[in-house]
Amino acid sequence: MNDTLSPAFYIRDIPVYGDLILSPMAGFSDQPFRSICRELGSAMSYTEFVSAEALSHNTKRAWRYFEFLPFERPMVFQLFDNDIERLATQCQRAADRLGPDVIDINMGCSVSNVAQRGAGAGLLRTPDKIAALFNRLSHELAIPVTGKIRLGWDDQSRNYLEIAHILEDNGASAVAIHGRTKQQAYKGEADWNPIGEIKAAVKIPVIGNGDVKCVADIDRIKAQTGCDAVMIGRAAIGNPWIFQRKDKAQVTFAERAALIRRHLVEMVDYYGSDYGVILFRKHVVKYIKGVPGHADYRVPLLTCFTADEFINLFSQWENEYSLDQQIADPFEPEWADDCVVA
Ligand SMILES: Cc1cc2nc3c(=O)[nH]c(=O)nc-3n(C[C@H](O)[C@H](O)[C@H](O)COP(=O)(O)O)c2cc1C
Repeated sequence: MNDTLSPAFYIRDIPVYGDLILSPMAGFSDQPFRSICRELGSAMSYTEFVSAEALSHNTKRAWRYFEFLPFERPMVFQLFDNDIERLATQCQRAADRLGPDVIDINMGCSVSNVAQRGAGAGLLRTPDKIAALFNRLSHELAIPVTGKIRLGWDDQSRNYLEIAHILEDNGASAVAIHGRTKQQAYKGEADWNPIGEIKAAVKIPVIGNGDVKCVADIDRIKAQTGCDAVMIGRAAIGNPWIFQRKDKAQVTFAERAALIRRHLVEMVDYYGSDYGVILFRKHVVKYIKGVPGHADYRVPLLTCFTADEFINLFSQWENEYSLDQQIADPFEPEWADDCVVA
C-alpha cells in the first residue's frame, strides 16, 4: 500500500494514511475493485451511492453494496435520498448494523431521476435541508459524517461556498468536491479553482475531484487547490496503479496481465461464475485499451461467458503478440493514450 507512516489527514478522529482515494462509482466501486485499489494505495474505501429508500425496504441488493473487507478501512458508506428523515434513519441503521468508519452523503449525482427529485446534486438546491440533515447526523451518529458535492446546480447557482460552510457549521468532518455543476454532468472540464476557494474557506479536510487523469494531474490539483486529498474515479478504471502514482505507461504488461487474471478471479468469487464474468467486461475494456492486437481480441474477450474461456483466449493473445516483450517500452504512445498531460 501507499500508506505513509504519519496520517495525511484526519476525518475527525480517523487517521487517513494517504492522499489518493478511489471515487465512489456506481457499478465499479464494488468490493473486488475497491480492494484492489486499496491494496495499490487508495487510502480509504467508499461504497457507491446507495439508495436510502431501497435500504428502508431491506432489498438484499442495496444492503449488499455495504459488504466490505476489514483491510478496506477506513470504510465509507455513501447514501442518497431526497427524504431527509428516511436518509438519517438509514444512515443510523447502516452504521449500527455494519460498523463503517464514516457515513458520506451524496450531493453530487447528476442523473436526472436522482437529481430532479431533490436527491444527489438536487440537494444543492435546498441548503436548509442539507443543514438540517448534517446537524442531525453529526449529533446522532457516533461516527463522522462527510459530504460529496458538485459546484452547484448550474452556472447561475454555483453555491459551493455556501454549501461548504453549511457542512462545516453543521458538523461535517470533510467535504469532497467534484469541480462541475449538475447541469454539466460530465461535459466540459472540471474547474479546480472552487476547490481551492473551499480549502481557503473551511477548516475541515477538503478532497478535490474531477478529471484527475494521470500522476501529473495529482500534483497539479494539489498545487492549485491545496486540497488535503485527491479523489480519482474514471482514470482508475483500467489503471488502479494510479494509486501507486504510476501512469498507464509505467505499468508493465506482466503486471497488467497478472491483475487482469486476479481481478477476474475475484469477480467470479464475489458474484458467481456467470455474473462475475459479465460484470468484469467493463473493466476489461479499459485494461486492454491500446494493447497491440486489441482490435483482434477485444470483441472475443468481451463476449466470453466463462472465466476459463476468457483466460484461454487472453493467454492466446499474449503468446500470439508476445505482449510481454512488446510492451517493454514505457513510453509506447498508444498504450499511454489517455494520460496526456495538458
Ligand atoms: C460510472 C460512474 C459512477 C459514479 N457513481 C458515483 C456514486 O455512486 N457516488 C458519487 O458520489 N459519485 C459517483 N460518480 C462520480 C465520481 O465519483 C466522480 O465525482 C466523477 O467521476 C469525477 O471524477 P473523475 O473525473 O476522476 O472520474 C460516478 C461517476 C462515474 C463515471
